[in-house]
Amino acid sequence: MNPSAWISQHAHTLTPGSVIDIAAGSGRHAFLFADLGFQVTAVDINPEVAAMYSDTSIAFENLDLEGSQWPLCGQQFDVVLVSNYLYRPHLPALIQLVAPEGHLLYETFGLGNERYGKPSNPNFLLKQHELASALGSQFLILDERFEAVTDPTPAVRAGIFARRLK
Ligand SMILES: C[S@@+](CC[C@H](N)C(=O)[O-])C[C@H]1O[C@@H](n2cnc3c(N)ncnc32)[C@H](O)[C@@H]1O
Repeated sequence: MNPSAWISQHAHTLTPGSVIDIAAGSGRHAFLFADLGFQVTAVDINPEVAAMYSDTSIAFENLDLEGSQWPLCGQQFDVVLVSNYLYRPHLPALIQLVAPEGHLLYETFGLGNERYGKPSNPNFLLKQHELASALGSQFLILDERFEAVTDPTPAVRAGIFARRLK
């Protein structure tokens, strides 16, 4: 699978630094950021994807991001990247991963996607402006999307690109 065009567009505007790819899967975005010169950490619960990262510059961590204890406590990154993943109970902790003046780049499915197929469970679908509300006044919103798309397949896509002010 190719990287998301929306994520790729914004990734190219960022100065290389540290990035964490949350629930990275096989790493389509982790590899995009590595190619752009970032120091990449990829995390996922699936141990089978570890092989994708062996012999690369990407540090893979096999973590459960949905346990009662947040496993990334105290860590911060210049860029926090999330694609096609949502677990609301740890959303505040995930936002805390963004370093001062760092960026959050988050894109997944939005409410209404159930009209087109999966994911259809509202637990996995962002509401319009939900991420902007969760970020509050500590972030400058650089781009926000919530729209029905047809490419690569019909879906409702939601996303935010934001910079932490302090
Ligand atoms: C739809 S895939 C998205 C993969 C990648 N972010 C992308 O956009 O190509 C969702 C990913 O979330 C991971 N995942 C699901 N539950 C998780 C958990 N509790 N902790 C960490 N990763 C999890 C899955 O293993 C899977 O790789």
